[in-house]
Amino acid sequence: MTAATDSHIMQTYARFPLTLTRGAGSEVWDDVGKRYLDFISGIAVNTLGHAHPALQQALTSQAANMLHCSNLFHIPLQQQLATRLAELSGLDRFFFCNSGAEANEGAIKLARKYFYDQSSSRRTIITASHSFHGRTLATLTATGQTKVKTGFDPLPEGFCHVPFNDLDALAQAIDDDTAAIMLEPLQGEGGVNMPNPDYLPAVRRLCDEHGILLILDEVQTGIGRCGTMFAYELSADELSGIQPDILTLAKGLGGGVPIGAIAARESVAVSFAPGTHGSTFGGNPLSCRAALTVLDVIESEQLLENVRERGEQLRSGLQALADDHPEISAVRGAGLLCGMALTCEAAPYVAAAREQGLLILLAGSHVLRFLPPLNVSAAAVDEALTILASLFSKQI
Ligand SMILES: Cc1ncc(COP(=O)(O)O)c(C=O)c1O
Repeated sequence: MTAATDSHIMQTYARFPLTLTRGAGSEVWDDVGKRYLDFISGIAVNTLGHAHPALQQALTSQAANMLHCSNLFHIPLQQQLATRLAELSGLDRFFFCNSGAEANEGAIKLARKYFYDQSSSRRTIITASHSFHGRTLATLTATGQTKVKTGFDPLPEGFCHVPFNDLDALAQAIDDDTAAIMLEPLQGEGGVNMPNPDYLPAVRRLCDEHGILLILDEVQTGIGRCGTMFAYELSADELSGIQPDILTLAKGLGGGVPIGAIAARESVAVSFAPGTHGSTFGGNPLSCRAALTVLDVIESEQLLENVRERGEQLRSGLQALADDHPEISAVRGAGLLCGMALTCEAAPYVAAAREQGLLILLAGSHVLRFLPPLNVSAAAVDEALTILASLFSKQI
């Protein structure tokens, strides 16, 4: 069903012809009452699915108390959230903002300010091809995809790109101007691209050898999405087993309430002294309460375990499909960030799945991406696999 009321909205999104009006868990309903399985989760945002009772209760009680008061004041819920995330991540200090792009923009500022404070000229940020870091001027410049930059020049200086997974290219790109290497531990938007097993540990070593910073953008991969709280915790054979100097989060952190975060180790975080950075809404009581509730439920409902089990179930089901259908060239991902690469355009499969009641999305033109809520059930994963099997048995 096409919404007839888009006339005053800037047309930045090529929207699906669908209006969603209600959700519960991993299911959503459109404006004519049709049910869909939601394997998009608002693009990795609805961590706890839709209308989770704990989040409903926390948000209504917080709204009855205080939504916002400004960072001019101490905010106990912000302090609680920072302490909790510090325990979980091993990083020392947090700055809260509202989105992934804002978190990455701040991370770039922090890396530059860190070297400025040491009277060092290091300013350049090296990022990877096919990366995605956001839509602000600095983050789209950091992004390794031409399509997001076209028409927006002049772009900020001080960024360069190397192919993802190419250690030699990375080592060659590092020079006396390099401040940081900024990577998604597993690329989401760019095609669900996995790092080679030795890539991230070797990147960490390169950063240490050169005295430069490692920024990990976990806007999509963080907060349990990959089966550990942060993707960098996955063991070296699964993904990386390393720690960043600066970490960025957003998307799933608030379970649907906008909140992002920049985390850093102490010696880096001190460069954000009073007056150097800010955000009016960042870390207000409502968003911090949402994030604390998301973290509580991940723990109390043992969702990391569910992510690992449902991720295995989904990937092995997709792999079984791939074994029978040569147009599926690869199945990859970690936890519940799954990709299925096709030899043909993937968009027709997204549309056909939607017709059959399954919401999935693209990651680039040839990859189907699956991002169910972290509490998705085994029955819902089976239902999604049955729909996909019926699609691949037909000519799309
Ligand atoms: C890895 C990554 N970084 C940054 C962003 C930008 O986040 P936001 O849309 O909240 O600005 C995204 C969004 O898809 C992302 O996947």
